[in-house]
Amino acid sequence: MEIFSFTIHFKINILRFVMKLLLSEKEIQRKVGALARKISRDFSGREVLLIGVLKGAFIFMADLARKMTTPVKMDFIRLASYGSETQSSGKVKITKDLETPLQGKDVLVVEDIIDTGITLQHLLQRLQTRRPRSLRVVALLDKPGRRKVDLQADYVGFQVENHFVVGYGLDCAEEYRNLRGIYVLGKNSE
Ligand code: PRP
Repeated sequence: MEIFSFTIHFKINILRFVMKLLLSEKEIQRKVGALARKISRDFSGREVLLIGVLKGAFIFMADLARKMTTPVKMDFIRLASYGSETQSSGKVKITKDLETPLQGKDVLVVEDIIDTGITLQHLLQRLQTRRPRSLRVVALLDKPGRRKVDLQADYVGFQVENHFVVGYGLDCAEEYRNLRGIYVLGKNSE
């Protein structure tokens, strides 16, 4: 198993963390290919509007879009949760809206990860009011054990345990989004 070790410097103390490979680049690319084939079959002959939820979904969406065989258009949206960093109040606002009207379109929301589901639930409610022809969701990662609302994606890449994961778009304080694999970030027990 591949293990990276690194150090995060805080004002007073230094904590040591380890990163363990959870999903390799090869595993991810194979899964993204399978998702793209399934989605392309389901939307056969129709144009799909991919909506990437910034920032985490941008790498997944780039790979997914290039593996799809149906025509696609792309747009992005950014959301922010109210409340503290660790405790979501459940209120979500759009901080960067779409530039594309949704009315009559086949829309596929592209998420890197679904955790509590609060972000996605709010987003779907907002998008539904714009009267798309269809509205579906693809998420590369799903943490069903963390769900606080009753919600499931139409297409899921991998179900993961309640780990803190980084890489392939996912960050820790804006770092590691550019890693090709997905890693579990944990405290070093040594
Ligand atoms: C992540 C992820 C989802 C959301 C899921 O975004 O991309 O949008 O959290 O969490 P939830 O299911 O508990 O609502 P994040 O807020 O970390 O922003 P980022 O994509 O810019 O890193």
